[in-house]
Amino acid sequence: VRRSSVQQLLQSQELEREVVVKGWVRTRRGNKYVQFIALNDGSTIHNLQVVADAEKFPEETLKDVATGACVSVRGQLVASQGKGQSVEVQAVEIEVLGKADPEQYPLQKKGHSLEFLREIAHLRPRTNTFGAVLRLRHALAFAVHQYFNDHGFYYIHTPIITGSDAEGAGQMFRVTTLPDDHPPRTASGSVDYAEDFFGKQTNLTVSGQLEGEIAALALGKVYTFGPTFRAENSNTARHLAEFWMIEPEVAFNDLQDNMELAEDFLKSLVRYALEKCPDDLQFLNDQYDKELLSRLQFVVDNEFQRLTYTEAVEILKTAKQKFEFPVDWGTDLQSEHERYLVEKHFKKPVILTDYPKDIKAFYMKLNDDNRTVRAMDVLFPGIGEIIGGSQREEDLEKLRTRMQQMNVPEEELWWYLDLRRFGSAPHAGFGLGFERLVLFVTGMGNIRDVIPFPRFPKNAEF
Ligand code: 4AD
Ligand code: MG
Repeated sequence: VRRSSVQQLLQSQELEREVVVKGWVRTRRGNKYVQFIALNDGSTIHNLQVVADAEKFPEETLKDVATGACVSVRGQLVASQGKGQSVEVQAVEIEVLGKADPEQYPLQKKGHSLEFLREIAHLRPRTNTFGAVLRLRHALAFAVHQYFNDHGFYYIHTPIITGSDAEGAGQMFRVTTLPDDHPPRTASGSVDYAEDFFGKQTNLTVSGQLEGEIAALALGKVYTFGPTFRAENSNTARHLAEFWMIEPEVAFNDLQDNMELAEDFLKSLVRYALEKCPDDLQFLNDQYDKELLSRLQFVVDNEFQRLTYTEAVEILKTAKQKFEFPVDWGTDLQSEHERYLVEKHFKKPVILTDYPKDIKAFYMKLNDDNRTVRAMDVLFPGIGEIIGGSQREEDLEKLRTRMQQMNVPEEELWWYLDLRRFGSAPHAGFGLGFERLVLFVTGMGNIRDVIPFPRFPKNAEF
């Protein structure tokens, strides 16, 4: 008999047949006549109930069928008398594959805080919450590729080790190596072996955009989806030092096209999750956030509000709410301002455009007013900025001027300038922070709980 997943068995219509199922014990309860084992194998949020006639199994075996243990069960799939499930397995044979000592296994039945679970990142995938989050994370990653494939985009792999700073923000992790013979390391660290290796200083990428532009100006419509690294010391619930970013880049698109793509893309991802993961979303909705499902549906059903940075500043200046940080034209918006616009003023997702050039990256296309650039940020309820993007400066001289003004070294980006020398074209793109998307869709409160192994200041244990 081939092994079935819990998911397959719970959906099965063929009763009274022999089945084999393997998974981890969530709970075992019962009396000296009958034992009920809740089994989960990660295929679904739901547990499979295994019923064991206590007299048929050695006490030793049943004792080892404890919370956390891994078991293999052979038995009969039958209709369930109990509430909450239509089928259950009447056990004929139970084999304990891996014990979990109840005295030591940290994940006993209930009530662990998310903070505690972060300290046992190697075991938290076995909880209902992280099972749901990880299945949703998978579904969303798959939906990203499906969306782009359906819309004629090519997936481009951009480098992780780079010689340039794509954002010009100086938030990079430097790459170094140990020498071949691993001598004791000295504090001075005067020899940079990686620099020797590559012949120059290198960093972990902060964005695949610049290489994405290379590809867009050859293949038309492309996207990247890869890990990015930022050494910003922001200890917030929205920042990670290592996160995944999705960056589409499209030749001949302007800012309007870019906004349309961003809105359609986000809606289709949320719609996908609603369609494909209803049980996991229902669980998270009931467990953590009673408005999760209605919020997701709202985003799918409503147009995003579009306005310029200048218009937003006017709204914020006349807002009744007092902000911690003052708002003035020319300063960057803080998350309190973004969330005011989204959650209080418009009560829907917002796309802000045309930011002052001095608070945005060097590559954004300058507007005719010479003060603002064709930037766009998409702001989401509960999240703030979920997407940052722009139309790119395609004019060689204007780009060089911006680079000089912002101290971006030309010799480092000679190849980027070449794109404007040879067959330049209008183009635009954006970056979606994948974890911010997962954060929004799962309704979790902290970005550290939507990636299996979060990296943040003072944390790289796992
Ligand atoms: O706004 P950002 O910095 O834009 C770029 O990197 C552009 N090169 C993207 C492009 O146009 N191709 O970052 C884009 C998004 C943000 O909106 C946010 O969702 C996410 O990346 N992000 C982070 N997510 C988690 N932790 C961090 N430290 C993040 N920094 C940015
Ligand atoms: Mg940004």
